[in-house]
Amino acid sequence: MNPATEIRIARIDDAAAVAVLLGELGYPASVEQAAARLVGLQRTACAVTYVASRAGNVCGLATVHSHASLNRDQPSVQLTLLVVSAQARGSGAGKRLVQAAEEWARDCGAQRLVVSTAVHRAGAHAFYETLGYELTGRRYARVL
Ligand SMILES: CC(C)(COP(=O)(O)OP(=O)(O)OC[C@H]1O[C@@H](n2cnc3c(N)ncnc32)[C@H](O)[C@@H]1OP(=O)(O)O)[C@@H](O)C(=O)NCCC(=O)NCCS
Repeated sequence: MNPATEIRIARIDDAAAVAVLLGELGYPASVEQAAARLVGLQRTACAVTYVASRAGNVCGLATVHSHASLNRDQPSVQLTLLVVSAQARGSGAGKRLVQAAEEWARDCGAQRLVVSTAVHRAGAHAFYETLGYELTGRRYARVL
């Protein structure tokens, strides 16, 4: 039987596991870098970092950001990072992390949660569509 998945706010002592997950997502970082970024996110009220943990081992990571906008009265909330370790995929950790992000977004007063995902992440596209997310636009980026 799979151990139960716990979703909780990330702590600084998760930095080593967070660094591994960032590497899996394609954004390699040292433990020190991961720790500094966790501290930075902890210091802002408009962002939260969640981890998924099984039997005490961190196996998933998500960040969510909220910002005021002119488009709507409600804040705009975005799921800015989501990854589940390769060994833990397919058993509900990603879905639980998204549910935690949605709950946080509701608590911020948002009426929707937005996520942008790279064109090549076909698995993530299928995952978000399974969870009821609709394709609503394109993302453009330019190296500065
Ligand atoms: C996308 C990702 C976070 C999904 O996490 P996960 O824990 O494997 O997903 P879950 O087990 O919670 O799956 C939830 C649902 O999505 C479906 N799903 C998940 N991955 C899928 C895939 N690749 N193709 C089709 N459906 C998928 C599951 O079947 C499940 O459906 P159900 O609720 O009807 O049973 C994970 O695969 C991952 O980290 N991928 C690499 C990084 C990435 O692409 N991140 C997103 C960047 S925006």
